[in-house]
Amino acid sequence: MELKKKILCIGAGYVGGPTMAVIAKHCPEYQVTIVDINNERIAAWNSEELPVYEPGLEEIVRQQRGKNLFFSNDIETAIKDNDIIFVSVNTPTKAYGEGKGMAADLQYWEKTARQILNHAESSKIVIEKSTLPVKTALAMERILHSQNNGISFDVLSNPEFMAEGSAIDDLEKPDRVLIGCQETETGCQARDILVDIYAHWVPREKILTANIWSSELSKLVANAFLAQRISSVNAISALCEKTEADIAEVSRAVGLDSRIGSKFLNASVGFGGSCFKKDILNLVYLCRAYDLNEVADYWEGVVRINDYQKKRFVLNMLTSMFNTLAGKRIALFGFAFKADTGDTRESPAIDVARHLLGEMAEVVITDPQALDNVHLELGDLLDTGRIHPISDPYEAAKGCHALAIMTEWGLYKQLDYEKIFHSMVHPSFIFDGRNILDHNRLYEMGFNVYSIGKMPMTHFGTELL
Ligand SMILES: NC(=O)c1ccc[n+]([C@@H]2O[C@H](COP(=O)([O-])OP(=O)(O)OC[C@H]3O[C@@H](n4cnc5c(N)ncnc54)[C@H](O)[C@@H]3O)[C@@H](O)[C@H]2O)c1
Repeated sequence: MELKKKILCIGAGYVGGPTMAVIAKHCPEYQVTIVDINNERIAAWNSEELPVYEPGLEEIVRQQRGKNLFFSNDIETAIKDNDIIFVSVNTPTKAYGEGKGMAADLQYWEKTARQILNHAESSKIVIEKSTLPVKTALAMERILHSQNNGISFDVLSNPEFMAEGSAIDDLEKPDRVLIGCQETETGCQARDILVDIYAHWVPREKILTANIWSSELSKLVANAFLAQRISSVNAISALCEKTEADIAEVSRAVGLDSRIGSKFLNASVGFGGSCFKKDILNLVYLCRAYDLNEVADYWEGVVRINDYQKKRFVLNMLTSMFNTLAGKRIALFGFAFKADTGDTRESPAIDVARHLLGEMAEVVITDPQALDNVHLELGDLLDTGRIHPISDPYEAAKGCHALAIMTEWGLYKQLDYEKIFHSMVHPSFIFDGRNILDHNRLYEMGFNVYSIGKMPMTHFGTELL
């Protein structure tokens, strides 16, 4: 298979942008183009203010843009020009019809397949980068081969395992790259071309090849396992709060078992992000479709515990603050779903803010990267007049009854909490939803301190606990 040294990625989002920037950096002989239907997004990628915040991303884009990395909205020409096409469009949870709230919405995916079919003038390798239900490649192939026009298409699965906040590091040094193909002659040739691209910077032994269905399913399973660890530790955090056990000590003791390992064992207010919930629900939906209801119930429990943890967090605020939050000013420190990203999709801070507004509280929100998204995520509640985005954390805390750490930004560990304490209404409360602060010091300053999976530290005496 002789192909042009040109790569196209359809979908310039959190995955498409960073992955292609890293490919462009390591494969200087390839010309890499990224297209999107969202013109604003493309304009932002071509500007000084990139649409995605990731440590290290800006440097690479600046280095490669205009050399061998291009952002464009001319999808038609790009499809004609490129024979290696990654598809990295969004695959959100379906919000309508059959499978609503569970299944993956494949409309963007299918539209892309049809765009490729309509504009292709030569044979293409089409690479699934988006996270998809197992067997999607079959649908893709059926669409692509629906016109007998002599053009051949080989579909590969190459799911992306990077995490937001550490995308560039993850892409530069992946634990593994997974490439699935159909076991046909051209399928294997296509796979080898993709293996060679990654081999520019990824050691060969870390490039796994598999059958295409295993590859598609592995991505859903990896996310389900990661989310399951978080829900497991969070479930135990609730028990710790009742029994005077300390979740940090339990996690440490459990994680030192080499069979278990220590990563992803930090208790928190819950997981967020665009992927974990949607991918588990997608897995659950698939299991039900195959009549595997016990398997579906098992994985659905992971999402249930996550919802429970967020609700429990707010309920804890309510009971600790004398059973009423009405009119109280509460600062949420962090709005992004995790540190080092501006992404707020499925962020626990959104649910917590909604619950607090439901309790008639005044909600102040601060975040170093994600404050612009407050309007997007809580737009329907803005006319309550009780949402106050404030970028400076000291200003945000002023006059508040409580503050809650929602995102583990490094910045929040370094603040002058003495100064914050004196600007707040007393008694003052801190709810550390990420267990990142020095709780003993905060308690000594006068705060009533509540964390996840630990006994509260209050100045009220035991009768109020
Ligand atoms: N965000 C993550 O951390 C992450 C990690 C691994 C995998 N994934 C998966 O990767 C996929 C993309 O995720 P994302 O976070 O980058 O999504 P995103 O919403 O940030 O980006 C998707 C982009 O695709 C564009 N698009 C949609 N339809 C299009 C079309 N027909 N033609 C051209 N462009 C089109 C959208 O305008 C959008 O800019 C999803 O399947 C997701 O599950 C995401």
